[in-house]
Amino acid sequence: MPNIVIVGAQWGDEGKGKVVDVITPHFDVIVRYQGGNNAGHTVVVGREKFVLQTIPSGILHPGRRNIIGCGVVVNPASLIDEMESLVRRGVSLDGNLYISKNAHVVMPYHPALDRASESKAGKHRIGTTGKGVGPAYADKTARVGIRMADLLDERLFREKLEYNVRQKNRLLREIYDAESFTVEGILGPYLRYAGWLAPYITDTALLLHNWMEAGSSVLFEGAQGTMLDIDHGTYPFITSSSTTAGGACTGSGVPPTKIDGVVGISKAYCTRVGGGPFPTELGGEIADLLRTRGNEFGSVTGRPRRCGWVDAIGLRYAARINGLDTLAITKLDVLDACDTVKICVGYNYNDEVLTDFPEEERIWHEAEPVYEEISGWKTSTAGLRDYEDLPTKAREYLARLSELCGVGISLVSTGPVRDETILVNDSTLARWIPGLRSSLPPH
Ligand code: GDP
Ligand code: IMO
Ligand code: MG
Repeated sequence: MPNIVIVGAQWGDEGKGKVVDVITPHFDVIVRYQGGNNAGHTVVVGREKFVLQTIPSGILHPGRRNIIGCGVVVNPASLIDEMESLVRRGVSLDGNLYISKNAHVVMPYHPALDRASESKAGKHRIGTTGKGVGPAYADKTARVGIRMADLLDERLFREKLEYNVRQKNRLLREIYDAESFTVEGILGPYLRYAGWLAPYITDTALLLHNWMEAGSSVLFEGAQGTMLDIDHGTYPFITSSSTTAGGACTGSGVPPTKIDGVVGISKAYCTRVGGGPFPTELGGEIADLLRTRGNEFGSVTGRPRRCGWVDAIGLRYAARINGLDTLAITKLDVLDACDTVKICVGYNYNDEVLTDFPEEERIWHEAEPVYEEISGWKTSTAGLRDYEDLPTKAREYLARLSELCGVGISLVSTGPVRDETILVNDSTLARWIPGLRSSLPPH
């Protein structure tokens, strides 16, 4: 079985959790490689809904091993809450959850700095999730961060904490007029968390190496999306980590030579939560229709998501940056009610039509999308499981999208539940995972 990376091809919330859940039974190990509890991955199993934030979605399948890789920033209190809530709901964590020693820790001053900087940013406000993810990655890069392994060495932890608290308190008080922290106020609870998490903290890169040598297959679960990537996203309106496929290597310790393929996840339309450019954003009735039908409210913050048409220019860019081998298109059913559906095929800027995603911030803000319009299918696709059952217009829409992106489509999602999934015959994913069709619940 190949080792596969799942990556968001838009601005996050593409339905990565659902797709990971559908294919997890075919992998031995599932790895989260970046981001933190800014992520919210929804998996619906029967009538039960789970929202995973730091733990890989593979945890819902007994017998799979789940890794929180070194590229993730871990808020220990939030992780423990997530673990306890899963256990209360009957999910076993025994021997199937591992946390990298090298993963950085989100400290209480990180969310404080995140919120304080956002509150003073005015028009530069990013609209972060307020979880402190940006400041935690800033500390990592500035080489003052605290890692999971440090929590297990009380003397070293205290030393690093003292340095950080001194530094952050000055920032909080003098720049942001915000409340400050004491070492003792943090040390006590964090040592308790450390005691709690100690059995899970290990050298996950070594484990992965050994398991892969022994033949285990690995699924890398992306968080956020390509357009939120620190390098390749719509900077500065991005998150602070490497959300693209390359992050799977640096965020896990698995070399690129061991990765066999990359699957991009995209909605059949597009959403974004938080600030920043969104060339195909819609207002008015159609946006409301997509938001209501797609239940487009953040799974972490509850914020209404901005909605718009799918952007083939952005998706082709995502295909290039991630080396997408194939696409999974989710939430097709949300478009069932549209009279017409549109695909952005170019950006009109200064009387020129750009067909490659531009790198300039000004263009993202000012470009006018050029659309191709396809009449809607106006029948329900909800819950369909066979490509042949899709209305002709829906198939035309998917075929055109695939053609414009230059990537084939392997999977189409027609509802939030596991079995509301179409596996496309002879597609890349069907070839990679021969047992996938039979593992999807029967019709
Ligand atoms: P993620 O962050 O990429 O895992 O995506 P989220 O979980 O934040 O957002 C996706 C939302 O769409 C979740 O509420 C899913 O349950 C839901 N969803 C996923 N696929 C489909 C689909 O095909 N149709 C519909 N209607 N909902 C879907
Ligand atoms: P999943 O994994 C959608 C967005 C925030 C904000 C920007 C920076 O569920 O797809 P941050 O708190 O990371 O500093 O915020 O990034 N953002 C997401 N948007 N889905 C996510 O994760 C996101 N994680 C961060 O809304 O615009
Ligand atoms: Mg999400």
